Amino acid sequence: MAESPFLPEHFARLDEDPDPVFYDMPRKVVHIDDHAIEEVKHFFRDTLPSDGVILDLMSSWRSHWPPDMPKQKLVGLGMNAEEMSENPDLDDFVIHDLNSNPLLPFEEATFDAVVVTVSIQYMTQPVEVFREVHRILKPDGLFVVIYSNRMFPTKAVAIWRGLNDRQHAELIGAYFQQAGNFTAIEALDRTPAASGYTDPVYVVMARKS
Ligand SMILES: C[S@@+](CC[C@H](N)C(=O)[O-])C[C@H]1O[C@@H](n2cnc3c(N)ncnc32)[C@H](O)[C@@H]1O
Repeated sequence: MAESPFLPEHFARLDEDPDPVFYDMPRKVVHIDDHAIEEVKHFFRDTLPSDGVILDLMSSWRSHWPPDMPKQKLVGLGMNAEEMSENPDLDDFVIHDLNSNPLLPFEEATFDAVVVTVSIQYMTQPVEVFREVHRILKPDGLFVVIYSNRMFPTKAVAIWRGLNDRQHAELIGAYFQQAGNFTAIEALDRTPAASGYTDPVYVVMARKS
């Protein structure tokens, strides 16, 4: 594996208070606009295994699950119980602070796919978390990272704040490379073709090898 290009200061944040302080207050808002949300649903329908066991990592009160798509189980992992208890797509959820403990509270080879939607910019130990995602994925399982161009700037890591949309894809690709044992790393621009403004939708994904 290549030597790590990352330094501790890359993952510094303007607000270094423990995350439970910031996420204690439920935020029942969406973080991308309606066009982008529809595209995320299309992308999930096109890409995720049907009838699978799926983890929505960094989950909140919406997972953007396509209404007509069968699933065995969708589990949320996030910071706020009130948000996730109102998420109509989740079958189960767990409160877990990834930034204080990147070890995921699941058995190995549990999930067919793991998704992180518009939240990767808040991970302070992404390589450790990506290794854990690898552990909990079934063989050939898919890890999908979706991002756009909005953020809570005080909670986003320094390296994310300093890069543009295209560079964010390279950064996520580097997280996969550093974690190791992922294959078919792919970056996609899934920004919907809307007549007016739409939030961009980008994806970087890879499979457990
Ligand atoms: C911008 S919201 C996105 C929520 C949801 N994925 C969506 O698509 O709307 C960011 C989410 O990241 C989660 N999050 C932030 N820091 C976290 C941490 N340290 N550990 C686990 N989850 C975290 C929060 O609970 C919050 O729901």
